[in-house]
Amino acid sequence: MTSRTFHLDSIRRVFPSLNHSINGQPLVYLDSAATAQKPLPVIECISDYYSGATANVHRGSHSLTATATNRFEAARKTVATFLGASEECVVWTRGATEALNLIAQSYGRQTLKPGDEILISEMEHHANIVPWQLVAEQTGAKVVKSPINTDRCTLDMRAFDVLLNEKTKIVAIGHISNVTGTRNPIETIIQKAHAHGAIVVVDGAQAVVHEEVDVAALDADFYVFSGHKLFAPAGIGALYGKAELLESMPPWHGGGKMVERVTFEGTQFSASPAKFEAGTPNVAGALALAKAIDWLNTLDKKAAEAHIATLQKQLVEGIKDIDDLSLIGLQAGASVVAFTLKGVHHSDIATLLDQQGIAVRSGHHCAHPLMDALNIKGCVRVSIALYNTQEDIERCIAAIQKACDIL
Ligand code: ALA
Repeated sequence: MTSRTFHLDSIRRVFPSLNHSINGQPLVYLDSAATAQKPLPVIECISDYYSGATANVHRGSHSLTATATNRFEAARKTVATFLGASEECVVWTRGATEALNLIAQSYGRQTLKPGDEILISEMEHHANIVPWQLVAEQTGAKVVKSPINTDRCTLDMRAFDVLLNEKTKIVAIGHISNVTGTRNPIETIIQKAHAHGAIVVVDGAQAVVHEEVDVAALDADFYVFSGHKLFAPAGIGALYGKAELLESMPPWHGGGKMVERVTFEGTQFSASPAKFEAGTPNVAGALALAKAIDWLNTLDKKAAEAHIATLQKQLVEGIKDIDDLSLIGLQAGASVVAFTLKGVHHSDIATLLDQQGIAVRSGHHCAHPLMDALNIKGCVRVSIALYNTQEDIERCIAAIQKACDIL
């Protein structure tokens, strides 16, 4: 096996989009928690599929479709290995959001009864709240909020222990918060939930790019993520589910490929994962997601995370003493830094940063309940990826200082 390396210059060379300018300034991209830039191997993989070997999968028997099917299933195996799972347990989805809706509408709708509870952390992204509210309305189950410690932006585990009870059937929890980078103690949460007979759904959208995930060691019941934050294109993601759960679940979408036999009297469904993959899938996306994982696997991930942590510290040191600037739920070593500026709208800061070539996200970050808990309307979020540099952070600090002087 070749040794894994982390050379920033070589990494940056495979991201052509980092060479762009915005508003006449060289781009500093600090919004990778929203979506990551794409490396050349991923871009070329998509181009190769469309320019050289486009075919549908699991349909027909000509050579191109056989090749596409083999590559598509090999990509599933890559994703499965990446998660520590077997490929039968990996379902392709459009992303984490679709995967969570699938679990809610298939597993949740079939199993939840009036009075059952779905326990959800207060820091969740809307994608891990709204699907549960929808299924709660359909089944008579109840969504229960598991609050955070607002001073640290961590899950209040004492409250969690009290709220977790025999009525809890599902615990839905983000592995890492998209706003603050808080890492939830999912190992403990899974153990506690199982002790009460509840299953656990983990939203790994922000985590898979930062830490090695082993769903078997975690004993997670479901684990979902999106490709686009992992250097793959948007529109592809994956759902891991325990084999016995997936087998017990009804299909969600109906259509081609998820069936063994269809008559007007009734339909016999395929086994999982095909049962959950109605219609022509995003073949190029699946191949590109596997390519992104292969590319990531060539890197020294520990060195990459240490690099990100160093940049985060540099940023925090550079802005923490700015007058009226408040850091929101700062997590040492995380890839994000969220902040507000007293009396200033978050989007005004982001606009001033954009004018200086710095791309950051501002707003509520699809986490209204977290904003409510923190008593803020929104914040600016700087999110760092392995391709960012010390110079990026220096420019970001200078741009924030300038924005503060202007506002
Ligand atoms: N969930 C993505 C973010 O946090 C879009 O920005």
